[in-house]
Amino acid sequence: MSSINPKNSSIKQAIILAAAMLAVFCLIASMMIAVTHHKTAPIIEKNQHEFLMQSLAAVMPINSYDNDLITDSYTVNHSLLSTEDAVVYLAFQNSKPTGAIISAVAANGYNGKIKLIVGVNYAGEIYGVRVVEHKETPGLGDPIEIKRSNWIEQFSDKSLAQPEIQNWAVKKDGGQFDQLTGATITPRAVVAAVKNALVFYQDQRDMLFNLADENKTVAQNNE
Ligand SMILES: Cc1cc2nc3c(=O)[nH]c(=O)nc-3n(C[C@H](O)[C@H](O)[C@H](O)COP(=O)(O)O)c2cc1C
Repeated sequence: MSSINPKNSSIKQAIILAAAMLAVFCLIASMMIAVTHHKTAPIIEKNQHEFLMQSLAAVMPINSYDNDLITDSYTVNHSLLSTEDAVVYLAFQNSKPTGAIISAVAANGYNGKIKLIVGVNYAGEIYGVRVVEHKETPGLGDPIEIKRSNWIEQFSDKSLAQPEIQNWAVKKDGGQFDQLTGATITPRAVVAAVKNALVFYQDQRDMLFNLADENKTVAQNNE
């Protein structure tokens, strides 16, 4: 014959109650996370878009194009730019090509990837370069950010012809570009990535603008 032990039964009830309370708590917490995500996602997206637009404006004079850079952007997969997809924004004025903004990734920063954008005129001369994402050490590698120093501005007006390609290196490696005090790895990576973006543009410019022309013709024919 079995008998109910009142002590065991109250422990069981306490466990069930605790489990139920935990389940309710988890449900409420996940609902709160879902609501917060739903509310903040559009804000984050808007902020990211604004940051992108500000960054693009920083590397390409707004009077050098009259098209929508986002509409005329292309995803490319090219080893000179990144191991992942990169984006190239094509600039036009009165339908004539005037330059491009090329996104590139330096994979060999001190703390990993450094993401950049490089704005060039049609001939491949640099308007400007900006670092848009990095994890370099504050105080050592982070002067590559325009907020920290004007180091990145030394690329303005440079091209593969000026300086000559063999001088596209930091001074410590025999090149023309300044390194940072106590930090050569970060600037070395950035200089190489900017140079590679220029080589990519030189090699692929005609193909990119031809592709854009074809797309515009297709779009016009479909109107
Ligand atoms: C904690 C720590 C963080 C560092 N962060 C960076 C960095 O972000 N970028 C960088 O170029 N060097 C950084 N350095 C310095 C590099 O180790 C290296 O000494 C420096 O880049 C000089 O490189 P070089 O020997 O090729 O001239 C850091 C060093 C330490 C100890």
